[in-house]
Amino acid sequence: MKILALVGTNAKFSYNRILLQFMKKHFKQMADIEIYEISKLPAFSVDVPLAEQTEVWKLKQKVKAADGVVFSTPEYDHGIPAALKSATEWLSYHTEVLKHKPVMVVGVSYGRQASARSQVQMRQILISPDCDANLLPGNEVLVGGASRVFSKDGRLINEGMRDNLEKCFTNFIEYIQVFKNIDEEEIQMPIKRPTISDAYINFPTGRLSLKEVQQIFSTIPFEIDLVDSSDRFAWYSDKPNREHVRNVASLNEPVTECHPPKAVPIVMQIINSFRDGKKDVVTRPLWMNGHRSLIQYYALRDIDGHYLGTIEFTGSVEYILNLFEQGAWDKKPDATTGASAHDEGTTQPAAPAVDASTGASETSDEATDATNDAPVADEADDATTGASESGSVDADDESADATTGASEN
Ligand SMILES: Cc1cc2nc3c(=O)[nH]c(=O)nc-3n(C[C@H](O)[C@H](O)[C@H](O)COP(=O)(O)O)c2cc1C
Repeated sequence: MKILALVGTNAKFSYNRILLQFMKKHFKQMADIEIYEISKLPAFSVDVPLAEQTEVWKLKQKVKAADGVVFSTPEYDHGIPAALKSATEWLSYHTEVLKHKPVMVVGVSYGRQASARSQVQMRQILISPDCDANLLPGNEVLVGGASRVFSKDGRLINEGMRDNLEKCFTNFIEYIQVFKNIDEEEIQMPIKRPTISDAYINFPTGRLSLKEVQQIFSTIPFEIDLVDSSDRFAWYSDKPNREHVRNVASLNEPVTECHPPKAVPIVMQIINSFRDGKKDVVTRPLWMNGHRSLIQYYALRDIDGHYLGTIEFTGSVEYILNLFEQGAWDKKPDATTGASAHDEGTTQPAAPAVDASTGASETSDEATDATNDAPVADEADDATTGASESGSVDADDESADATTGASEN
């Protein structure tokens, strides 16, 4: 169970942070709690340029990946601190990351009221239409007298408060479990198996069962993602060891939402060039996860040429390049004509045996180890995000930067 816990203040010292740190340790058998500092975020404004929203984007990814979110709020002037309101605005403006997300509110303050009034306000905010979170009802965690109820090493030593916290957090985990079970049935089932397993599609070139279609996508050495004609992330091939790790929670999101802000202008540039009919393909060779990879974007069109969406086709080309570098094509006759491109009179070198799953060659480990001596591309690609600092994009520019190869993890 993955829980994201927001410290509801940007203050350097905070009892609410101490409470969350205590919960992280105390409930480690029940949940993996990640504490998030809202001080990293810019103050909310609709005018903050997208390029300055990287931290906001990262927080949204964390919320998406979490099974539940805990908001720990102090009380400032009978309400929540401005910094927490600002963070919540980022999580509700032009995004649905909180929609139906199980959330829980806790809070600490000095007084006897124990942030009760700010917690009520926080609860109201979380059920507003733009947040639309699944708020754990009841279950009030009111930690008052902050300076007396924690030990020096940050343990909640007030027994009554600790018992109540244990009861409420257990309820929260059970509450999440209910939604998880529904999600698994509704979302995972069609993702892992075609919805109708015994149906067939009659293509002009042959008939495939849905099961075969599903398994073809899982087997081919390239992964495919589809952004539909309304610029939403519509589908990805379900394949082990993907270069871009995708999450079903991102399905149906606007493409602007599921890419890092820096990558968005370039992604949109490619998509718009496809939609406008100016381009049909953009190719980008790049290093990903320590090996040479190729990303190709294709405009998906119907037979009348109408734009249906953009396909992103990604995969390691290490094993193909190894075959090439080891001369697999040298002096081979053209299989269709029998003519050789080179000297037909000499003996053919045997093609090296390459492990297609790892790219490792049996004849030379060194030749296939991309992490050793291989030259690094000029563009400084972040292998984990695919994000690059620079970004000219042109379908003709084969060495263009990797920004659009961004991974959403
Ligand atoms: C601007 C401001 C306003 C505050 N207003 C209230 C209040 O209305 N009610 C209350 O119980 N505590 C109030 N306090 C005290 C806070 O609850 C207390 O500082 C608490 O420790 C803040 O949580 P933190 O330690 O996590 O930052 C206020 C503190 C500040 C700085």
